[in-house]
Amino acid sequence: MLKEEKKAHLVLPDGRDIQLDVITDNMGNHSIDIASLRKDTGYITYDPGFMNTGSCMSSICYINGEKGILRYRGYDIEDLVQNCDFIEVAYLLIKGVLPNTKERQEYTQLLNKHSLLHVDMRNFFRSYPHGAHPMAILASMVASLSAFYPEMEERDPEDNIDITVTRLLSKMRTIAAFTYRQDKGYDFVEPRYDYSYCENFLNMLFSSPVIDYHPDPVHVKALNQLLILHADHEQNCSTSAVRLVGSSEANLYASVAAGCCALWGPKHGGANQAVMAMLNKIISDGESVESVVEKAKDKNSSFRLSGFGHRVYKTFDPRARIAKKMCKEVLEAGHAQDRLLEVALKLEEVALNDDYFIERNLYPNIDFYTGIIFHLMGIPQSMFTVLFAMGRLPGWIAHYLEWRHDPYQKIGRPRQVYSGPELKKVIPINER
Ligand code: CMC
Repeated sequence: MLKEEKKAHLVLPDGRDIQLDVITDNMGNHSIDIASLRKDTGYITYDPGFMNTGSCMSSICYINGEKGILRYRGYDIEDLVQNCDFIEVAYLLIKGVLPNTKERQEYTQLLNKHSLLHVDMRNFFRSYPHGAHPMAILASMVASLSAFYPEMEERDPEDNIDITVTRLLSKMRTIAAFTYRQDKGYDFVEPRYDYSYCENFLNMLFSSPVIDYHPDPVHVKALNQLLILHADHEQNCSTSAVRLVGSSEANLYASVAAGCCALWGPKHGGANQAVMAMLNKIISDGESVESVVEKAKDKNSSFRLSGFGHRVYKTFDPRARIAKKMCKEVLEAGHAQDRLLEVALKLEEVALNDDYFIERNLYPNIDFYTGIIFHLMGIPQSMFTVLFAMGRLPGWIAHYLEWRHDPYQKIGRPRQVYSGPELKKVIPINER
């Protein structure tokens, strides 16, 4: 990280010429350091939605939205998807390096060891009403881990952090699967020692005493790849939520529970569910994709094409490209014809050739395809965002840990531009 010799100059309305440091990162991107602006001048910056604000320094993830590049710890996403499984990528994000064979094996064993849930936690699941959204259960259960495994409250010992991280990574998969079983009214299926992370998850979802279930290797591969694609995406809404909550020194489970809640929304991780709802509606209503695209362009309507557009990617989303390929593989392996994919491809074609979408650089994002893949794997729509959360977890953890070691370690506390009234006087209640 370099601090450049050159300064940025800011001329204030009172004529003061302020010099600000310019930071150039390893990839040649420049930022203006305004950390002491208010202290030095009394001015703050106004940046709703943080369109221009770098909230931290981070070495975990690199995105170039103009060129469609995504890298974790320096490795290209395509390379990771082709050559690693999800646990290797989780290890990379959390520990900073890819594991060797021995480390990989030991980590898998550790994850298996911590995969069971406290029996009292299992009972919680049965108390949720039928039809409760899985994200509500997931977020609550993740926060509840703090009550059952409170060791991390003693903040310092690195050992505790390691165990807490491993517990969370492992138990999240069990919680996610139990959420589904609860909704279905099925008995819970315990994790198995002889299964990999993704095999175990599928087995916990679909195994039954009356069906001889074995996870389909194509689905295991697809799940590994999907979780890798979701594993990190620098300072997105949920990761920023994890960092912000973590910056108050809340524990890891509480911080990640906040991340789950942030992910839930349809503009973020909830978009995969919204895409499926949109495609299903097109099919059931018999509406043409052209009219759906027209509706998405209409400024008088709040309708947006779900799975299109991205705050950062202004060419293509590299994750979407990989997911599209995977979608076709899963479809071919199942010898299935899928009307949803047909409609999705048509919608993509119409939108990509439409001036509105071209001018605004709106391309399909990852969520445009992932829903279809999950659907082909037999996973219900309500679980899609839960799978996104399982994938994003190593990223959340990595960012939480990075914050812990950040020498600045300031509590996150943005300023505001106040738009309310000046001083008012309270009128006694009987005179109002
Ligand atoms: N359909 C129609 N118009 C759109 C869409 C869309 N999906 N996305 C953006 N626009 C328009 C928007 O109306 C605006 O037009 P104008 O300049 O005329 O006002 C322009 O494009 C810029 O949009 P924005 O909302 O200012 O862009 P943003 O960076 O704030 O929002 C976004 C990014 C992803 C929230 C938005 O594109 C969106 O709502 N997409 C649909 C939801 C979705 O697919 N979300 C998943 C994101 S990928 C998963 C993840 O990483 O979280």
